Amino acid sequence: MNTLLHIDSSATVMGSVSRQLTAGFAADWLKENPRDAIVYRDLNLNPAPIVTSDLLEAIYAPAGSELTGKKRAALEVSDALVEEFLAADAYVFGVPMYNFTIPGSFKTYIDQVVRMGRTVARGAKGLEGLVKGKKMLIVSTRAGDYAKGGPREGWDFHEPYLRRVFGWMGIEDITYLPVINSQVHGDQNQRMVEVKTALRATADRWRSEAVSSGGFGLGREPGLAA
Ligand SMILES: Cc1cc2nc3c(=O)[nH]c(=O)nc-3n(C[C@H](O)[C@H](O)[C@H](O)COP(=O)(O)O)c2cc1C
Repeated sequence: MNTLLHIDSSATVMGSVSRQLTAGFAADWLKENPRDAIVYRDLNLNPAPIVTSDLLEAIYAPAGSELTGKKRAALEVSDALVEEFLAADAYVFGVPMYNFTIPGSFKTYIDQVVRMGRTVARGAKGLEGLVKGKKMLIVSTRAGDYAKGGPREGWDFHEPYLRRVFGWMGIEDITYLPVINSQVHGDQNQRMVEVKTALRATADRWRSEAVSSGGFGLGREPGLAA
């Protein structure tokens, strides 16, 4: 059994396009891979706390030292998020663009799961990621068009940031799907057809790569080596 960690961060509950797309991906995945597990986290309903001195002092406290209640509580929250992140084999994240970058709810989540010694560590070349062999799909809804050559080229701080931070954590297989949610830029219905085709292609690729490499997805089909 493998685990897909599904996270939504849109502050819109009814009518959110990213929520609809990530939910569709997760539901299709489970239908086709019924032995897998989906873990769901809604950062709007249940935001990850911001990093405070309580957490930092707890993380860097000398081994064996007694932590105050607030520090221990902050560490327990971060530990749980890190463990959930590391336990997943693949990720589907719904991350709308807010003010040219990611929602604050997703930033506090990232700040909690980037943890020295757990997800990144000091290696020969400086800080290196420890999160290896995972697959990630990021569904990035936005109202604007930030295409190369367009008037807003260079305004998108969402894609480069997420590719950098998760890539730095060690995740090499990142599918980033920008989804323009607007009637202004082109044909919205046609665009949604293309987005769904891209989601389908991602699921198919994950599945076939897992089968050929014996990695993610191992053993879900009769006849495959366990
Ligand atoms: C607070 C806020 C900030 C936004 N900032 C941007 C932005 O900088 N660029 C953009 O293209 N769209 C922006 N939008 C539009 C959303 O990205 C767009 O409506 C998207 O569909 C939201 O995702 P959702 O449908 O999953 O909620 C913003 C929306 C909100 C609510």
